[in-house]
Amino acid sequence: MLLDLARSKKILFFGGKGGVGKTTVSAATAIARANEGARVLLVSTDPAHNLGHLFDRSIGAKPVKIMAGLDALELDPASTVEAHMREVSGALHQLMPVNQHGEIDKHIALSRDAPGMQEAAILERIAEVVETGLEDYDLIIFDTAPSGHTARLMVLPEMMSAWTEGLIKQREKADRFAEIVRDLGRDSSMEDKTIGGAGRNEQERESKIRQILLRRRRKFAHLRDALSDGERTSFVIVLAAERLPVLETIELNSLLESAGISVDYLVVNKRSPNDSGEFLSERRAQEDLHMQTLQQALPEIPHQDLLLMAHDIVGLEAVERLSKKL
Ligand SMILES: Nc1ncnc2c1ncn2[C@@H]1O[C@H](COP(=O)(O)OP(=O)(O)O)[C@@H](O)[C@H]1O
Ligand SMILES: [Mg+2]
Repeated sequence: MLLDLARSKKILFFGGKGGVGKTTVSAATAIARANEGARVLLVSTDPAHNLGHLFDRSIGAKPVKIMAGLDALELDPASTVEAHMREVSGALHQLMPVNQHGEIDKHIALSRDAPGMQEAAILERIAEVVETGLEDYDLIIFDTAPSGHTARLMVLPEMMSAWTEGLIKQREKADRFAEIVRDLGRDSSMEDKTIGGAGRNEQERESKIRQILLRRRRKFAHLRDALSDGERTSFVIVLAAERLPVLETIELNSLLESAGISVDYLVVNKRSPNDSGEFLSERRAQEDLHMQTLQQALPEIPHQDLLLMAHDIVGLEAVERLSKKL
């Protein structure tokens, strides 16, 4: 059962195509655990946030209380990108001579809208939520954006650490070069007054830049560890028993696997009942064929079916009713 998995983990990610029920099922899981006495944080990372719509109230970048034991928040991509750019810009200003600051600002303004920027910013916030959230909560549940987007996020920590790694190496090379130049040009009569003093300033500047880079690297490395630690973290794919969602689930699983993240559970949502008329029984039989494809491709991943309800699932009470079926 999904709930057994939720009981044994500290971090759960829900992914899958748009409209399959990620937000609904992750909220139901959060409520089920909160009702068992766990302290749960439900986090939406989808730029098209719908936790607010689900609970019919406004939810922002700070945790709000949904019920006893359950807080929710929506990561805000726009302000996250702003904060991220401010920090990157500050770091670059420190790295480069003043006469290049104009260039840097131009570059930053352009890259604000670059592809991947929003993902990188959200990833950084996920890293922070994981790092600080586990002190206050027993379980953190991430309701993520549709498949492709999520998977790109999941492999990003690797890319981000490679990027900071490169910068650090570059700095080290530059440091050594500067040292050699200093040694070559050293005039013993001036050493203490001028060059020694400048050297100290330089060192302070260097260590500040290094700290920024190392801090970012630690953040991503920490997230990387959390994501690939199967003891603490699980990824759940929500899908419908239809052809495309099944094929995408198989693809998403292999993408995550290649990033060292294991998918531990599948929720097959909106299954047609087979006792509600001929039309739905026929639909059910069609779904069963797609389920065979799924089970042949991913035989080792347990799954749970959730029936299609007659009505949309909106509001705390409706989600709580669904949570009893997990
Ligand atoms: N088992 C279900 N039965 C009926 N409607 C459902 C079920 N699960 C989800 N829904 C509805 O489907 C729509 C999409 O669900 P949502 O959780 O927002 O999907 P996602 O987050 O994957 O985009 C919502 O209107 C929701 O109420
Ligand atoms: Mg959603």
